Amino acid sequence: MDNRPIGIFDSGIGGVTILKCLLAKMPNENYIYYSDSKHNPYGEKTKEEVLGFVDQIINYFIEKDCKAIVFACNTATALAIDEMRKKHPDLLLIGTEPAYKMIHDYAPNTKTLVMATPATIESERFQNLYHHYDNQRSYLLACPNLAYLIEENKEEELTSYLRQLLGPFQQENIESVVLGCTHYPLIIEKIEAILGKVKFYDGGEGIANHLYHLLESNHQLNLNKAKKEIYFEDSNHNEQKKERFFAFLTELQK
Ligand code: DGL
Repeated sequence: MDNRPIGIFDSGIGGVTILKCLLAKMPNENYIYYSDSKHNPYGEKTKEEVLGFVDQIINYFIEKDCKAIVFACNTATALAIDEMRKKHPDLLLIGTEPAYKMIHDYAPNTKTLVMATPATIESERFQNLYHHYDNQRSYLLACPNLAYLIEENKEEELTSYLRQLLGPFQQENIESVVLGCTHYPLIIEKIEAILGKVKFYDGGEGIANHLYHLLESNHQLNLNKAKKEIYFEDSNHNEQKKERFFAFLTELQK
């Protein structure tokens, strides 16, 4: 039994889509969510820059005595998790990757669109995953600034940008869409409005199951049902962001 909190972070509030899955699987845990909106978007930054941000966030979670740290960000995972694991071999660090393996496992012959940030698509980590499971029917789509438009709630720009980005795939009969950025599950209706009915894949549930089993085998699950806390911290100390985060969390939990 271990009632220390689980740390979870993203370049903003997108990681709420992962937190939702952690809460569904591990409702008795305490969580500290760190939203690094000051540096959003990560997807257009260099590896060195992202490493610097992630390094600071990990130190913050160490100070808070977290028993596990979840990278609720595909970009941070792609660019920084290997280095952070080398630097902190004793920490339990869990990453998020575009759920392309799920296509191999559950929908191998479907025409697939993988959406992610430019940094994730170009990363060695994702390229290895993609080549390993390539179903020969996939398009990789880097989506510059899409996470930023979602993060900052730029409704109109977002709609016209999505039309421009996804328009070329409208006639392609896409069946599966891999949401390779944790912000993207927040706009699935908008994606379907352009592509039509598709099946979405993301890593949230897999991460929750994986972390649950690791904590269980280390006897580190929090079994105390009475107390549960979700603490939110934003690097810009933005109160509105906090409100949007909790509004999304409530909505996603319905
Ligand atoms: N939510 C992010 C991800 O999963 C970060 C996107 C960004 O900051 O560019 O990749």
